[in-house]
Amino acid sequence: MTQYQSEINRRRTFAIISHPDAGKTTLTEKFLLYGGAIAQAGAVKGKKNSRAAVSDWMEIEKQRGISVTSSVMQFQYEGFCINILDTPGHQDFSEDTYRTLMAADSAVMVIDAAKGVEAQTRKLFKVCVLRDIPIFTFINKMDREARNPFELCEEIEKELGIETYPVNWPIGCGKEFKGVYDRARRRIVHFTSHGGSKAATAAQVSLDDPQLDDLIGAPLHQRLADEIELLDGAACEFDLERVRHGKLSPVFFGSALTNFGVEPFLEDFLRMTPPPLPRLAGDTVVDSFDDHFTAFVFKIQANMNKAHRDRIAFLRVCSGRFDKDKEVYHLQGGKKIKLSQPQQLMASEREIIEEAYAGDIIGVFDPGIFSIGDTLCAPGEKIQFDPIPTFAPEHFSRVRPLDTMKRKQFLKGTEQIAQEGAIQIFKPPYSGMEEVFVGVVGTLQFDVFQYRLRSEYSVELLMEGLPYQYLRWIASPEHVREDELVLPGDAKLVEDYKGNQLILFGSAWSINWVEDRNKQLVLAEFGGTAVRS
Ligand code: G4P
Repeated sequence: MTQYQSEINRRRTFAIISHPDAGKTTLTEKFLLYGGAIAQAGAVKGKKNSRAAVSDWMEIEKQRGISVTSSVMQFQYEGFCINILDTPGHQDFSEDTYRTLMAADSAVMVIDAAKGVEAQTRKLFKVCVLRDIPIFTFINKMDREARNPFELCEEIEKELGIETYPVNWPIGCGKEFKGVYDRARRRIVHFTSHGGSKAATAAQVSLDDPQLDDLIGAPLHQRLADEIELLDGAACEFDLERVRHGKLSPVFFGSALTNFGVEPFLEDFLRMTPPPLPRLAGDTVVDSFDDHFTAFVFKIQANMNKAHRDRIAFLRVCSGRFDKDKEVYHLQGGKKIKLSQPQQLMASEREIIEEAYAGDIIGVFDPGIFSIGDTLCAPGEKIQFDPIPTFAPEHFSRVRPLDTMKRKQFLKGTEQIAQEGAIQIFKPPYSGMEEVFVGVVGTLQFDVFQYRLRSEYSVELLMEGLPYQYLRWIASPEHVREDELVLPGDAKLVEDYKGNQLILFGSAWSINWVEDRNKQLVLAEFGGTAVRS
């Protein structure tokens, strides 16, 4: 293997997905500690009040003490070069969170052992499934009272439609938590808490060690033996191919806070998760080891530096090597360009880089030429990656400028922010721009939108919340006429600014109702690629 190939081969690019509070930040932090990227817990993101430590670029973030952006962290561990994509979870949940998943080659799903599968995990999981990427499950907080592990695995299988393979199995939980049984190595990793929940030690003991009864107690020993027998008999076989196609999720139990089970998880995960995956560009499959540079834009972050009103475009390098001195071809712009100020992010630091390889994420200065999904490739090539799907907003408002004289700036700003992908805009069919509906995935984006229109375009907004919760794209090949549709009172036909037809719904029930009454209608949950497929 050449040095170039081994650089790509050692890269692992993944996202961590979870419902807020399941332990994503804690787990990420432990990974970074192992990689030596940070020196102490709490260095990445302080909790609660100082949650903005990673990315307080925008003033609004500082005001609200939360991070609006998703960021990327790179670190080295045991020869691997790891890129972790952060998927913000609290109020800052946005379409960006979904788009970030388009840049990952696998996902780690963190589940709270007491709560099981929660709403936001479900949403993020659905997006991972769109691309069939491998999904690894870390069932966290075993040092607290937890649900029955069989029940948790069953819930993942039923609710998310993916098979599970427990790589290890917990022995008790909460105060009774004694560790995990490692199925492949047939040994027990014993958990000892050091008064309080901040740290634990792990010792390895064979399953037939005579001391086991003393260590975990006879009743737990017996229960473990029964459960392992049941697992070995009933659960499906481990099959790496199925893992890599996103059909089987390896499940690990542990406790991120006490650092129990994190390192074995990281090691098994890195062994099982693939190096940078190939990408589709129409009929062409772009192999990551191909020595021609390709990348696509998956996120645009505006206004990081307010004084310059600059934008940063985040690129996922898909093949070849990025060299800061070489020109690249921007397909959508039809121009050769030199990417300026290429940088990689590490926690709160940005570092200018000389080169990057397939699998890496880089941020480049965007003078306003990039859009989400744009392709960059070597000059002379004409690769175009498949577009990034559009994800359905869940909150909608009708907006207009407070001062009608500011209509022009209002439209310009609204369209600009929509083009960056922070909001989606719609209008009733056959109307001009009299009414603009704005849709967002997380409500914080309304605040960001309002703030940016005020600070960048001097426009005060009037916003009126709309009672819709769901949006579906009309994927039927023919244009649908409004008078041909049978819609209930809480549904409305709208268009986006590319002329795509969509329907807003007030409830999940009315989606079913509309599908039932309009047999010719095909509805899609995602826009863009998904509509065409
Ligand atoms: P998130 O990024 O998924 O939102 O979750 P985060 O890591 O911030 O964890 C949420 C809360 O759960 C934190 O407590 C954290 O300490 C706790 N936690 C994470 N992993 C474990 C675990 O394995 N066991 C136990 N017992 N707790 C865990 P907090 O009270 O909100 O914050 P803090 O006071 O600990 O900073």
